[in-house]
Amino acid sequence: MNRVDYLRISLIDRCNFRCHYCMPEDAELDYIRSPEVLTRTELQTLVSEVFAPLGFRRFRLTGGEPLLRSDVTEIVRDLAALPETEDLAMTTNGFLLASKAEELYEAGLRRVNISLDSLNAETFDKIIGNRGRSRWQQTWEGILAAYRVGFDPLKINVVVIPGVNDREVLELAALTLDRAWHVRFIEFMPIGNSELFGDRAWISSEELRDRIRQRWGLETASVTGAGPADIFTIPGAKGTLGFISQMSECFCDRCNRMRLSADGWLRPCLLNEMGQMDLKTALRSGVSTSQLRDRVAELLALKPEINYKQRESGTTGAYSRTMSQIGG
Ligand code: GTP
Ligand code: 5AD
Ligand code: SF4
Repeated sequence: MNRVDYLRISLIDRCNFRCHYCMPEDAELDYIRSPEVLTRTELQTLVSEVFAPLGFRRFRLTGGEPLLRSDVTEIVRDLAALPETEDLAMTTNGFLLASKAEELYEAGLRRVNISLDSLNAETFDKIIGNRGRSRWQQTWEGILAAYRVGFDPLKINVVVIPGVNDREVLELAALTLDRAWHVRFIEFMPIGNSELFGDRAWISSEELRDRIRQRWGLETASVTGAGPADIFTIPGAKGTLGFISQMSECFCDRCNRMRLSADGWLRPCLLNEMGQMDLKTALRSGVSTSQLRDRVAELLALKPEINYKQRESGTTGAYSRTMSQIGG
């Protein structure tokens, strides 16, 4: 069992995209009301007085779409300034990144993971649920801006959906040939939108690796990161390929993370709902941060058991929150 030192902090549950695998069409109905969202000050208090003293050293900002939060740069600045922070990253859809990349870097953010499920504008718009002017170009420009500004490693997340974007796997893998980018293929998970999930709704990483191997060959490699990806590289390529295989493989025993939702719920496991704790209500009702620390320490001790439960119950259970609410 790994040491749990990585907190994924969802800053907001709203998103400017509507990826079908992440957010149901009627998501607006369930958005967290703004008074319920943790403020910048509350986040700073929780991280510096509860999580950092418990040994958390790596923080990732997620959403929804974290760049929709107006104080995102200040939050980055706060977290980057904490002496305990060893790794500060963000997962974003990239649409607003071109205009924000520079100020985020200047505030202390050092790496970003950007979702890009297709190189084809039409397929991309279909996946993100966009019916208006294509959003592909602006997203691509966000990725280029992040690269220019110096975010390193720069990771591109591709959720592989059979019959939608799996034909593009070689083309997406080829992005790493002459760019130092890290393209990761993610097995599609049945969270939040399970009606999309037919018999063959996911393709195994091994099958994708076979296709890539046949074309170019593959070697194992490594890249900075705390996540569950298995890393490879095409011989001679500048970048790497990552495979996140939560459907075909179980990596719960190396799970090193907890998740904090935008409304302050601490969640020990992405794939089941056991043990969640409402830190916001406790904080707002005057529970001291030292008491909160004790409660979180107890939950940390239970985490291996909670991870194990996930293994027993599989990944097709019911979820009261969608991926956009949990932050991936
Ligand atoms: P780094 O390796 O630190 O760059 O982070 P990461 O790959 O964990 O972060 P990212 O937000 O890019 O997540 C990529 C994918 O991995 C998403 O689809 C996540 O849902 C999935 N993922 C991340 N953590 C877990 C986890 O604990 N369990 C499972 N099953 N999937 C996870
Ligand atoms: N299955 C796999 N990955 C998902 N993501 C969102 N929903 C799903 C899902 N159902 C990914 C996004 C993003 C990351 C945070 O989670 O593509 O890159
Ligand atoms: Fe938004 Fe990311 Fe979910 Fe797509 S995957 S709807 S970009 S939060």
